[in-house]
Formats: sequence, structure tokens, C-alpha cells
Amino acid sequence: MNKNKVVVLGGGVLGTQIGLACAYQGYDVTFWLRSESSVGRTTPKIERYSALMLEDLAKAKALVGSPMGAFVYPRGLVRDWSSATAESLEALYETGKKNLQENVHIELDKAAAVKDAYIVIESMSEDPKAKIEVYTQFKDLLDEDTILVTNSSTLLPSMFAEYTGRPDKYCSLHFANTIWKNNTAEVMGHPGTSKETYDEVVKFADSIGMVPLQLHKEQPGYILNSMLVPFLSAAQGLWANDVADVETIDKTWELATSAPAGPFKILDIVGLETAYNINQMKPAAQQEGTIENRIGKLLKEKIDKGETGVNAGKGFYDYTKK
Ligand SMILES: NC(=O)c1ccc[n+]([C@@H]2O[C@H](COP(=O)([O-])OP(=O)(O)OC[C@H]3O[C@@H](n4cnc5c(N)ncnc54)[C@H](O)[C@@H]3O)[C@@H](O)[C@H]2O)c1
Repeated sequence: MNKNKVVVLGGGVLGTQIGLACAYQGYDVTFWLRSESSVGRTTPKIERYSALMLEDLAKAKALVGSPMGAFVYPRGLVRDWSSATAESLEALYETGKKNLQENVHIELDKAAAVKDAYIVIESMSEDPKAKIEVYTQFKDLLDEDTILVTNSSTLLPSMFAEYTGRPDKYCSLHFANTIWKNNTAEVMGHPGTSKETYDEVVKFADSIGMVPLQLHKEQPGYILNSMLVPFLSAAQGLWANDVADVETIDKTWELATSAPAGPFKILDIVGLETAYNINQMKPAAQQEGTIENRIGKLLKEKIDKGETGVNAGKGFYDYTKK
């Protein structure tokens, strides 16, 4: 087994970011993709996210000495902000750039991709059938010692453990979007995950610039979404019930808790389609007259107008205005 070899299954939004975070820190990274057309879709993502990471690192130089620096520096790229200087960030930039250029490979052949891997990170679509299919295909190709983790947001590792061929060496390692800035890594085992595997995954997460957040048991939504989803739902309920407008709800939260962003600013970042999909999963959303039903209708109106959040330039707020 090569302790420096990381394999990412899936080259989507998160898979690409995870692989690049590992490459930046010096791991040798192989993306396994299923076809040439996947290569065509993933290659520009590798280029775009590498550029964004380096851009944020370059911008961080201007933040040295500023009181805001500690809040906005790219936490996944700079381990110790308190000792950072313009020179140390410059050196980090050069090493990071070289690592991103030299440590990333794409492989279509399954056996070649995972040969000798230390850890294989599954980050494919949130589709249980596709995940089971891939686990089944890879299970006899992995080295005996290779650890397998899933980045699934909503599916529990116990749903898949039996298909992996290594339930004791399998658990969840869940990242947040734009992982080089939002560097959380929730580590969640299933009842059959061994302590050695769990501890090794915690160490690995730390080694790639993440802050490992340890869950003691399986929990749908992990820690973050177990808090965030009800919080955002409560805010949407106030809005849909016309208790207060969006700006007032956000202002209340921001002033009372010193939080930098209220729930509707967060919803704009998450994206209104995701908020809509989460809302529609609630049975009450299908019943006329419920607050969940009203939230669904209001979100749908905005989505139909193209107001889906920060990425679209407009959501609850207008981001095209200077
Ligand atoms: N997007 C987020 O904000 C976010 C955050 C945390 C975790 N996640 C999780 O990460 C995982 C990936 O999400 P994403 O946003 O990167 O999705 P995505 O749609 O951007 O990428 C999915 C990737 O899986 C590949 N894929 C799908 N089916 C496949 C199959 N049968 N065989 C091989 N490859 C297949 C696709 O080609 C694509 O490269 C999901 O489990 C998701 O829940 C996403």
C-alpha cells in the first residue's frame, strides 16, 4: 500500500474539490472517471477549482495584519493563520501551485486507479443505486488495507457497508462545498467501522487541511445539517407566514447573535433549488394549507424566475447591484 496515494471516485463538484485539497497538501491523487466524456467534464473543473484555490491564497496575502483576516482566510489552505506572513504565504502559493500541477491524475481503468491506494473517497451522485453499483465493481479490486469513505450528504454508511467487501474499513467523511475555505470534515462510522479505521480517517482529514468533526454514531444530516436544516426551515416559515420580511429576519439573527449572515443569505449561498428539494421531501409540503406547502410554492415562484441564489446573481438578494 502506498500511504501517499489517494483515489477519488467521481469528478463532480465535490469530488474535484476533495481531490485537489489532497493534491495541494502533497498527496498523489487519482480521479477515477467512468468514461471519456466524464474526463471532458471533469478536466475544466480541475482547472477552475485549482485557479480559485490559488486565487484565494494569493488574496490572503493582503489580509495579513488585518483584523478581518482571521475570519476570511482560506482555512483549508493555510494551517496556522496566526503565524502567516506575506513571505510564508508566497512560499505556500508556490508549493501549492506545483502540487496541484504535478499530483493530479485521471484514470478510466478501475484496477489501475485503485492499485496500492491508501484511501479511496467515493464522491459520486447522491443516488443509492449508482453507489451500490460502483462499490460492487470495486470491491475485489481494492488492496486489503485500503480504507474506503463516502462523502454522501444524506445516505448513511450502514446502507452500503455490505457492498464494500470491507465494512470494518468503511465510514463517512463528509465535506462542505468550497472545502478549501469551509474546511469541515464530519467523520461518521457505521456500527461495523473499526476504531482503527475511524481514527485513521480522522488523521487523514487533518492531514488534508480539514478540521475533523467526530460523530459518535450515525446521524442523518450529520451535525451541520441536523442544525442548519431546521434553522433554515424556521426562517422560511416566518417568511411564508408573512410574520416579517426577509431583510428583517436576517437582521434579527445577525444583530442578536453577531453572525455574519442571516438565514436568507445562507439560503442564497446554498441555492434555492436545494432548499426547495429539502422542503418538498416533507410530507406536509404536499398538503394544501400547510406552511411547508406555502414555502414550496414561494420558492418555486423564485426558481421559475431564475432567482436561485448567489450563483444566479439573484435569490433573496440581488448580487448584480454594486
Ligand atoms: N454539492 C455539494 O454541496 C455537496 C456537499 C457535500 C457532499 N456532497 C456529496 O458529494 C457527492 C457528490 O456530489 P457532487 O455535488 O459532487 O455531485 P455531481 O453531480 O457534481 O458529481 C457526481 C459525479 O458522479 C459521477 N457518477 C454518477 N453516477 C456514476 C456512476 N454510476 N459511475 C461512475 N460515476 C458516476 C458523475 O459523472 C459525476 O462526476 C454526493 O454524495 C453528495 O451528496 C455534495
